[in-house]
Amino acid sequence: MVETGRLAPDREGIARAAALLRAGYLVAFATETVYGLGADATNEAAVAALFDVKARPLFNPLICHYASAEAAFSDVAAGPLAERLAQHFWPGPLTLVLPRRDRTRVVPAVSAHLPTLAVRVPASPAARALLAAARVPIAAPSANPSGRVSPTTAGHVLSDLDGRIAAVLDAGSATIGVESSVLDLTGEQPVLLRPGGVTAEALAAVAGPLAARAPGGAPRAPGMLASHYAPRLPLRLDATDVGSEEALLAFGAPLAGAGLTFNLSQGRDLTEAAARLFHGLRFLDSEGRRSGLAGIAVMPIPEQGLGRAIVDRLARAAAPRRAELAEKVRVAGSGMA
Ligand code: TXA
Ligand code: MG
Repeated sequence: MVETGRLAPDREGIARAAALLRAGYLVAFATETVYGLGADATNEAAVAALFDVKARPLFNPLICHYASAEAAFSDVAAGPLAERLAQHFWPGPLTLVLPRRDRTRVVPAVSAHLPTLAVRVPASPAARALLAAARVPIAAPSANPSGRVSPTTAGHVLSDLDGRIAAVLDAGSATIGVESSVLDLTGEQPVLLRPGGVTAEALAAVAGPLAARAPGGAPRAPGMLASHYAPRLPLRLDATDVGSEEALLAFGAPLAGAGLTFNLSQGRDLTEAAARLFHGLRFLDSEGRRSGLAGIAVMPIPEQGLGRAIVDRLARAAAPRRAELAEKVRVAGSGMA
């Protein structure tokens, strides 16, 4: 158990956060997408502690964060398309998967021993200041226990990880609210591994047609497991009615009759909805459980622009959980005995 300090994003707070990272401690920090849990990507022990605190499977690689495209491209081999995308979207909510360079100081565990590395230059002023002060690449997954809802405030981070990390750099609410888009540039055609803060439409305008996913088989982004972002209450998607025993995640004019309602955007604005998504899920989960509700009904959300990232997160939040799957296997197994 350590005391988790809450640092302000001023000169002193940034210097303290950078010093802690350089000393091998874990520090959560605000980015424009969600809060990340940072570790010095060149420090094996710090990276191991990061996987441990999140209970993250070791096969799920991390994104490395940099203060500039130049710094990022010293660790990965960037072709003309990567350069063009970086020029358009960095700093910002885009992650590029590229071949690792041989001589990078980033430890292999960061990219789960893959020959590739995911790199990103975030836009939020606090993150940029921290990365500049740290002067090392910072590996940072979202600052939540693996499989759970991502954090968009320092309060969310503390409710999950207080006492387990050295500090959180508190720069208020994340403005975008969903994670970066992850684009794999290692194949013939760019593959959108995860829809996120840069819309697929905007990416395609620069990169040309994107392949949706690796064909068949294992996910190319090993972290893109079916179940993720999961609140404790079960989710019911595309709800067109709702009962008093359910909480409602609304979009637009809310359905009547819910036990509790959180509206992502009364005016059906996808940007506003993305910014409020994880807060809404956390709120309905905790308040809903407190009042004994049975689940969360989610109104339909259009799959365009930022809506793609929102629908992706909600689909994973609604997917059967590992524990439930294990239970099903157990029950099926005993039925056969
Ligand atoms: O907005 C974001 O991207 C946030 C902030 C903190 O930057 N970070 C974030 O990290 O969402 P995380 O660990 O929650 O998600 C990273 C995703 C995972 O799905 C992971 O599997 C994928 O990126 N990824 C990382 N490295 C990869 C690689 N070398 N190849 C394929 N996928 C990779
Ligand atoms: Mg995450």
